[in-house]
Amino acid sequence: MVLYSHFLVIYLLFLSSVVSQVTEFISIDCGSTSNYTDPSTGLAWISDIGIMNNGKSVKVENPSGNWMQYRTRRDLPIDNKKYCYNLITKERRRYLVRATFQYGSLGSEASYPKFQLYLDATLWSTVTVLDASRVYAKEMIIRAPSDSIDVCICCAVTGSPFISTLELRPLNLSMYATDFEDNFFLKVAARVNFGALTKDALRYPDDPYDRIWDSDLDRRPNFVVGAASGTVRINTTKNIETRTREYPPVKVMQTAVVGTEGVLSYRLNLEDFPANARAFAYFAEIQDLGPSETRKFKLEQPYFADYSNAVVNIAENANGSYTLYEPSYMNVTLNFVLSFSFVKTRDSTLGPLLNAIEISKYQKIAAKTEWQDVMVLEALRSISDESERTNDRGDPCVPVPWEWVTCSTTTPPRITKIALSGKNLKGEIPPELKNMEALTELWLDGNFLTGPLPDMSRLIDLRIVHLENNELTGSLPSYMGSLPNLQELHIENNSFVGEIPPALLTGKVIFKYDNNPKLHKESRRRMRFKLILGTSIGVLAILLVLFLCSLIVLRKLRRKISNQKSYEKVCPLADSLRTSTKPSNTAYSIARGGHFMDEGVAYFIPLPELEEATNNFCKKIGKGSFGSVYYGKMKDGKEVAVKIMADSCSHRTQQFVTEVALLSRIHHRNLVPLIGYCEEEHQRILVYEYMHNGTLRDRLHGSVNQKPLDWLTRLQIAHDAAKGLEYLHTGCNPGIIHRDVKSSNILLDINMRAKVSDFGLSRQAEEDLTHISSVARGTVGYLDPEYYGNQQLTEKSDVYSFGVVLLELISGKKPVSVEDFGAELNIVHWARSMIKKGDVISIVDPVLIGNVKIESIWRIAEVAIQCVEQRGFSRPKMQEIVLAIQDSIKIEKGGDQKFSSSSSKGQSSRKTLLTSFLEIESPDLSNECLAPAAR
Ligand SMILES: *[C@@H]1O[C@H](CO)[C@@H](O)[C@H](O)[C@H]1NC(C)=O
Ligand SMILES: *[C@@H]1O[C@H](CO)[C@@H](O)[C@H](O)[C@H]1NC(C)=O
Ligand SMILES: *[C@@H]1O[C@H](CO)[C@@H](O)[C@H](O)[C@H]1NC(C)=O
Ligand SMILES: *[C@@H]1O[C@H](CO)[C@@H](O)[C@H](O)[C@H]1NC(C)=O
Ligand SMILES: *[C@@H]1O[C@H](CO)[C@@H](O)[C@H](O)[C@H]1NC(C)=O
Ligand SMILES: *[C@@H]1O[C@H](CO)[C@@H](O)[C@H](O)[C@H]1NC(C)=O
Repeated sequence: MVLYSHFLVIYLLFLSSVVSQVTEFISIDCGSTSNYTDPSTGLAWISDIGIMNNGKSVKVENPSGNWMQYRTRRDLPIDNKKYCYNLITKERRRYLVRATFQYGSLGSEASYPKFQLYLDATLWSTVTVLDASRVYAKEMIIRAPSDSIDVCICCAVTGSPFISTLELRPLNLSMYATDFEDNFFLKVAARVNFGALTKDALRYPDDPYDRIWDSDLDRRPNFVVGAASGTVRINTTKNIETRTREYPPVKVMQTAVVGTEGVLSYRLNLEDFPANARAFAYFAEIQDLGPSETRKFKLEQPYFADYSNAVVNIAENANGSYTLYEPSYMNVTLNFVLSFSFVKTRDSTLGPLLNAIEISKYQKIAAKTEWQDVMVLEALRSISDESERTNDRGDPCVPVPWEWVTCSTTTPPRITKIALSGKNLKGEIPPELKNMEALTELWLDGNFLTGPLPDMSRLIDLRIVHLENNELTGSLPSYMGSLPNLQELHIENNSFVGEIPPALLTGKVIFKYDNNPKLHKESRRRMRFKLILGTSIGVLAILLVLFLCSLIVLRKLRRKISNQKSYEKVCPLADSLRTSTKPSNTAYSIARGGHFMDEGVAYFIPLPELEEATNNFCKKIGKGSFGSVYYGKMKDGKEVAVKIMADSCSHRTQQFVTEVALLSRIHHRNLVPLIGYCEEEHQRILVYEYMHNGTLRDRLHGSVNQKPLDWLTRLQIAHDAAKGLEYLHTGCNPGIIHRDVKSSNILLDINMRAKVSDFGLSRQAEEDLTHISSVARGTVGYLDPEYYGNQQLTEKSDVYSFGVVLLELISGKKPVSVEDFGAELNIVHWARSMIKKGDVISIVDPVLIGNVKIESIWRIAEVAIQCVEQRGFSRPKMQEIVLAIQDSIKIEKGGDQKFSSSSSKGQSSRKTLLTSFLEIESPDLSNECLAPAAR
């Protein structure tokens, strides 16, 4: 009976809200051919035919579950245009906007779809479909900036861009209001239902706002993994009072996880993080506590002492069991890997409990095109043919401009060129054109435009105007002649009347005005008057000039005779002016030639000198890819590594020298400097700075006696090497691809700082030197499979090899090792399979375990796996890798603030939680809060 009444209450509550809410839902099933109502949810889906006229409807082979909306998708053309859906909104109302993507099956198609999704001008997400059977849902919470929004798809990198559904869900009142909403959208990164009964997500009708609450049983990679032992799932059927600000669904609150051993911990990846975020935790006590039982816990942030103070006591915070307590952190900085744990306090009898979390990234709203410019474009569109307009959707400039406009790169973007020649425009040129201050070119020729010219006096950047072959009337305003940048004005075949502004006829402007029968130059009489006036002024002026000239000539003559020296004074100046180009030319060439002699540039070292330095090449310290390396000490005491190239054919000497000269000009603290070279009798020798601590390979896999490298040192080495490679790729012009990145090419100096060696010889030079041609350079275990396959060399090949080095650093294992991975596999296969399972511990070097923060390793493991992606374009750039390593160093050092906080706002006195580090939105249960003032 009690149960029944609870159900009734839920049902009634639910029904009332549903009725008010659902009618406002917009649910577009992209690619569907008909409108329908899904009987299982009651949602009315409409087809996008008529909304989107591009692309084609495609049947999806194995749609997810029973969801009807995934039976079709819309594939959009693969081109550089954007394809936009326009959704009507109420300005300043808050909405959840959702786009979903389920490809169905990749079949034989080689490349998976990867493209961009925009909300107005704001980049929303890069959609990458790696698993065709999965539904990728992108959600953004917005306060509508105007009376409609555009959701656009563009910029396919690979595969065909597509979309499955587009959904707009109005939110109530101040749900999800933030202090930053004027400038930021909230991009949903995680919304997790803990203790879920099944692995399916919950949404409408369980959630009247149709948010998607992912189940914590969802087995996506790196999603809610690493649960502490003793984690138990609990559920209840009792109603939960959830009328806090965000109204989470009761069904989500009816399940939870409890850390029976005192700890509740999880880890998940947050797309596009690190970033500032809004984070909610949802707590509701759903166990009946005995009189002696208490549940108190804290959020534990081990490297941040401040976090340890505040205590959650759900029942007390929420004023009762079965009542939601919803603390939210207004602005916290979170990392890509979010790890959190709740730990019970000493005086608590029960372990921590968690019902749900929700994390959204603050996404800066990008500026749309200046509205005054947009108004003109709209007006021009409205006078053009229906058939010409189909593709002008979304913002005129961002992310890609409409075909007939050109945009500035300013913020906000402005229109610099309108190209509508011969587009059947009928009517008057919109007078608002007067506000398009950034316009430089206007092409409206060959239309049926009528009426007078709009005011263009403020368009001072205007350079080229084409208005010929229209039916324009009225006069040419005089300011047309004084537009400062005007170069061309074409008005042939119109019906302009009146006088041509004289300034247009001076020849400064290309001015074409044939076939305007009523347009004329200045009237005869005024002309004659002007002529007379002009002539008389002219004559007077000539007389005056003649008079002055004769005076000057007379005076000069007199001076010349009296003082010859004054002439000589002027002369040297003139001379130097006449010859000024020549000396500077010489100076220039000297500067350029001189470059090779600059300090820091490799110099030639005679062979005997090297023989002496190396004591006749007696101490061999290694074998590089071109030959053996010997230790040496120059006369000045400088320690060097002398590398003797394998013998080579004797021609192309010049090329060797040039290469050396180029190489020696590359200086970076993370690249081994080239000091000199020697070239004698089939011997080619390079002399490098000596690195005291040898190669990374030897340090990692070398003798057992050495102290193993600790994690922070490894990170530092990775960072140094990554910086060195980054410099090669981006700091040199043209960029240099190393092509043989491996741990034995990463050298350690006396301070254990790493430098990359063996870079930069061009393929040509190298072929010369080693007789190897048409074989991909590189070392087994490090070789980019893509490069190996197609011989197309890019920086991403280095990235692949560097990913292998990162895996070596994490695991302490060699890239290829029969004992470790068997004959078939290598470090990449092995690590990938472990990491995909969410198991990073198994790949960590045993000597590190216990002395590292696992999140720090995670960060590196993540990026390493990205580096060894099969396809080059999926791999990160060196810059991104450097950032990831820096991140990881911060995590390891623990100085990083995983949660930063801003000052607390008014909180209810009931609250005891987390005041030291969290800004908490009060889950105020008083009635005023149920109808909060709309912001
Ligand atoms: C949304 O707000 C209206 C009042 O403005 C209220 O009647 C309705 O129940 C609310 N919906 C939900 C789901 O709370
Ligand atoms: C679907 O519904 C929309 C809006 O109600 C309507 O404009 C459209 O014509 C319908 N489409 C089809 C295929 O029935
Ligand atoms: C819900 O909780 C009860 C105990 O309270 C348990 O027996 C049952 O298995 C749980 N249901 C699920 C689906 O976990
Ligand atoms: C969040 O806090 C950071 C630093 O405290 C600040 O720079 C930022 O503007 C705040 N707001 C958002 C939306 O990021
Ligand atoms: C807490 O709940 C009790 C009854 O459960 C009620 O009397 C009291 O007013 C509530 N306190 C607040 C601050 O709402
Ligand atoms: C103006 O019209 C005439 C006759 O229709 C045509 O021959 C001429 O090419 C036109 N002028 C321009 C600049 O298009």
